[in-house]
Amino acid sequence: MFFELSEQHLAVREAARDFAQNVLKPTIIERDRAMSYPKEEVRQMKELGFLGMMTSPDYNGGGMDALSYVIAMEEISKIDASCAVIMSVNNSLVCAGLEQYANDFQKEKYLTKLASGEWIGSFCLSEPEAGSDATSQQTTALDMGDHYLLNGTKNWITNGGTSKVHLVIAQTNREAGHRGINAFIVETDWQGVVIGAKEDKLGIRSSDTHTIMYNDVKVPKENRIGEDGFGFKFAMKVLGGGRIGIAAQALGIAAGAYELAVAYANERKTFGKTIGSHQAIAFKLADMATEIEAARLMVYRAAWLKDSGKDYATAAAMAKLYASEVAMKHTVEAVQIHGGYGYVKEYHVERLMRDAKITQIYEGTSEIQRIVISRDVLNGNLYI
Ligand code: CAA
Repeated sequence: MFFELSEQHLAVREAARDFAQNVLKPTIIERDRAMSYPKEEVRQMKELGFLGMMTSPDYNGGGMDALSYVIAMEEISKIDASCAVIMSVNNSLVCAGLEQYANDFQKEKYLTKLASGEWIGSFCLSEPEAGSDATSQQTTALDMGDHYLLNGTKNWITNGGTSKVHLVIAQTNREAGHRGINAFIVETDWQGVVIGAKEDKLGIRSSDTHTIMYNDVKVPKENRIGEDGFGFKFAMKVLGGGRIGIAAQALGIAAGAYELAVAYANERKTFGKTIGSHQAIAFKLADMATEIEAARLMVYRAAWLKDSGKDYATAAAMAKLYASEVAMKHTVEAVQIHGGYGYVKEYHVERLMRDAKITQIYEGTSEIQRIVISRDVLNGNLYI
């Protein structure tokens, strides 16, 4: 067992930390307030190679491992969970999904542009009535011979207003249940793709989340991913990797709030001494430090399992479940440590508290992670 990061991992951490502190931090309070999309910041993420980190250089990606990706996600999420989710969806849902399951034609046409960051992608699974119950897809893709005809509505789509490519999950054959679901690559400027209103959200407000409508969109047959009926398994497999990214986002949000709380505890004085010298605050920091470290070990281990070619679905679910609970709990504590200052935007912790909540909801709620974990446990896999 080896707990030290390599030179390459340390360099990734340094680059991501530098970018987050110097580029993201000065603008995040205003972007969060105004719900403005970080266009310039995303352009810089492209230049730094953060948008296709794990994709092979053959398709213009960075060719890095999943551990590098989670380290970068952690540093960026300490400051800006909005940029982190833009990055996460593009890396671990869109690019990873295409690299693993698309054919050569699709990779050449789409992945090369998505991994370089020239284009941004979205993953379109959730619907008004199909969130946790992902098999009950109402969006239909009728087989018309040389193309599919796509109709339906998708909800909560990250990068919805800015993406050039959607990976859309839709029902082709309702009688076949989940085996009748397909995944398609859809270009957003095709006729019939309608970008709906932008959501006014509690957190990750600088990311753009939209409802999307597909009205008689003609999708060429060549844009289906995998064999007929592979769409649901495609979504489940891709979400396994996505959950490692969101676990890293949650870890970063928790760690960002913790770092602010420690600095504040060493600076703010009450009753003649720094508040960190009061046991009430010191013990909160001890609990934060311990639980964030445990979350980090789980997130890094899930990434390591993926990098080692081992099964990581349950480890990813555990890491997301735990890291997101830690993020929610300790961002609330960080606000408490800051007292009244924690309640105003200038001190950053209130934003991190609002950002934390979504990590318990998207890419599978905490309840869904418990379903995934408990099924594996009851199947006899008591330990990973
Ligand atoms: N890998 C491969 N196959 C899988 C799988 C996995 N991890 N999980 C399930 N499957 C397969 C099963 O083997 C089964 O296939 P067979 O019948 O051929 O054996 C099929 O998929 C159906 O599986 P289940 O019977 O287990 O399906 P279920 O209806 O009980 O649902 C679930 C399982 C885990 C609850 C699933 O519906 C789920 O994960 N729901 C949550 C959806 C989700 O995470 N949504 C997030 C939206 S994306 C997002 O948030 C992105 C963003 O923008 C940030």
